[in-house]
Amino acid sequence: MDKLVIQGGIPLNGEVRISGAKNAALPILCAGLLTEAPLKLGNVPDLHDIATMLKLLEHMGIKVSRDGQNQLTLDASDIHTHEAPYDMVKTMRASILVLGPLLARFGHARVSLPGGCAIGSRPVDLHIKGLQAMGAEIHIEHGYIEAKVDKLKGARIFMDLVTVTGTENLMMAATLAEGTTILENAAKEPEVVDLAECLIKMGAQIEGAGSDVITIKGVSSLGAAQHDVVCDRIEAGTYLVAAAMTGGNIRLQHVRAELLDAVIDKLRETGATVTHDDNSISVSSVGVLQGKGNLRSVSVRTAPHPAFPTDMQAQFMALNTVADAVATVTETIFENRFMHVQEMQRLGANIEVEGNTAIIRGTEFLEGATVMATDLRASASLVLAALVARGETVIERIYHLDRGYERLEDKLTQLGARIQRVK
Ligand code: EPZ
Repeated sequence: MDKLVIQGGIPLNGEVRISGAKNAALPILCAGLLTEAPLKLGNVPDLHDIATMLKLLEHMGIKVSRDGQNQLTLDASDIHTHEAPYDMVKTMRASILVLGPLLARFGHARVSLPGGCAIGSRPVDLHIKGLQAMGAEIHIEHGYIEAKVDKLKGARIFMDLVTVTGTENLMMAATLAEGTTILENAAKEPEVVDLAECLIKMGAQIEGAGSDVITIKGVSSLGAAQHDVVCDRIEAGTYLVAAAMTGGNIRLQHVRAELLDAVIDKLRETGATVTHDDNSISVSSVGVLQGKGNLRSVSVRTAPHPAFPTDMQAQFMALNTVADAVATVTETIFENRFMHVQEMQRLGANIEVEGNTAIIRGTEFLEGATVMATDLRASASLVLAALVARGETVIERIYHLDRGYERLEDKLTQLGARIQRVK
């Protein structure tokens, strides 16, 4: 298994381009199932999770043609199986996003239950409940979701919890249903909005994406479209924190600051200077490495968009380990998203966990050590800690990182970091 070897202590400086958003590209690839016409996509990030999703879609019969760097075209004119098998779904929960499109277009789907993952049980009961409200007959047997319906019918659906992929699954299903569907308490994440924009280009009639009430008027079929995937706000946030922690000065190209309001607010609270234009964000900070003014500790509490994103929680925990005082990090979305705490403690971080809140007391410095990645964003937070730790840090099991960060070590090297991948 690959490892990352990082020498800490170097302020990051320079420019990097932010990739397309993993969490927008994944549902948008599944939207390709909704039409027999070609769906041309740009700014598709080159990530392990994207490769996994493409493998699943090809297994069903979708033809994928790669038109160049981060460009591809999907052709779902000859789908011959409506099943998402366990061995594919178990490695990536987002596979559940084929359920809505398969039911909408073919009236049948057999999708393995995703099972839990490192950060929590992550059930899909709200996906199922919503599809049943639209008339689908669904039962679970032998670990599979067996679903069938003649024709989905529009329905008014109140989502008990804000669920990102739940909202996406039901929105896609509703595009071809008979009548109008109203999703209440819908997720407002920018990735939901990007999926809606792609579906509208395909001919779907959707209003309210980005608000908590989305109205979808079913149409008889969807057609061809071209869509560039929105930039990855979490990848961008991760680099912004890296620059703030190392006392660097970086500029991120191809990113929209308005997708990161809560994160930028919190970064400014640390004392970092954040500026932006309509397509880039710059951050500079005295950071811990200069020994001049320290980063100020900043407390965060995760919640659905537009509040502070759970996918940035681990990164801000890393920042607080070397900030000047005490901060709390409270995780309200997932029940077990503190797997990075023990690993940071190995680097000398002073963190205590009480239920879903971590209390972090900033220390003057971290010491390099060997640590292990556990889930995607936890792994990213270990890279951040390693960038400021004294000496060398080795991060094992970095396949987690490859799931969600395109060319991470290349981009960090471009910014001056001393990092290398060891087979
Ligand atoms: C999406 O996961 C993202 N993944 C996650 O990003 C992100 O952390 C999460 O949204 C929250 O923002 C993708 O978009 C592919 P949820 P999702 O359904 O949709 C509970 C990353 O690092 N719930 O919004 O699976 C659930 O257990 C990944 O890129 C139910 O109880 O998350 C959780 O506690 C990690 N029943 C809460 O809702 C359901 O039917 C929010 O989950 C669905 C969800």
